[in-house]
Amino acid sequence: MTAERMKKAAALEALKLVKPGMKLGLGTGSTANFFIEALAAKVKKGLDVKCVPTSKATKDLADKLGIPLTTLDAHPHLDLTIDGTDEFDPELNLIKGGGGALLLEKIVASSSAHMAVIADESKKVKTLGKFPLPVEVVPFGIKATAWKIERAFKFLKMEAKMTLRVRDGKPFRTDGGHAIIDCAVGEIKEPQRLDKLLNTIPGVLDTGLFTGICGIVFMGTPKGVKEFKRKA
Ligand code: 5RP
Repeated sequence: MTAERMKKAAALEALKLVKPGMKLGLGTGSTANFFIEALAAKVKKGLDVKCVPTSKATKDLADKLGIPLTTLDAHPHLDLTIDGTDEFDPELNLIKGGGGALLLEKIVASSSAHMAVIADESKKVKTLGKFPLPVEVVPFGIKATAWKIERAFKFLKMEAKMTLRVRDGKPFRTDGGHAIIDCAVGEIKEPQRLDKLLNTIPGVLDTGLFTGICGIVFMGTPKGVKEFKRKA
């Protein structure tokens, strides 16, 4: 079974959580897009929902498919966010940000009563860190910020290979105009501690570590969709 079919199967399973009247957060990426397409089909049949997109790409797709959109300012408390991930561990800690939308994704997910993640089985890991950790930073003073990030990794006895994300030969910019430093650090044994530490650095806007936010993962496999729930 292709990763695409596993992503779609997971998206369809997550759609079952959506109830009329809900305010939803819509994630970003190829897996989230499957959810958005499936949701749009329900909306066409009369499902009443209002959605907050986590990126321009998601906003454009949802708009095109006729999904009613709103903002977090109009609805600061959402019922449910559905998003993809780059990795998830057994505690449902995540690494996100491969698509560069991590900051808005974290703001939206943490404003939701529940976050459901949809993924194919390649995203499941024992310990986070195979995927380089994206850290979103302000472009001003980026070298000074990068130095402080490296120092933070050293403090936690982690060795980091840090790369400024580039797209089309130019430094990548998020929807908010920020840069991303991808940090290949190997196993992240204490994701919460690392996230907290990196977030104390001036110039760091956020990291792709989502800890204690995701409540359920729907993972598509060739044998069907598996569910993982976060222990209370
Ligand atoms: C975007 C993200 C995505 O959810 C993550 O990169 C997974 O993407 P995909 O579903 O395309 O594999 O965090 O910032």
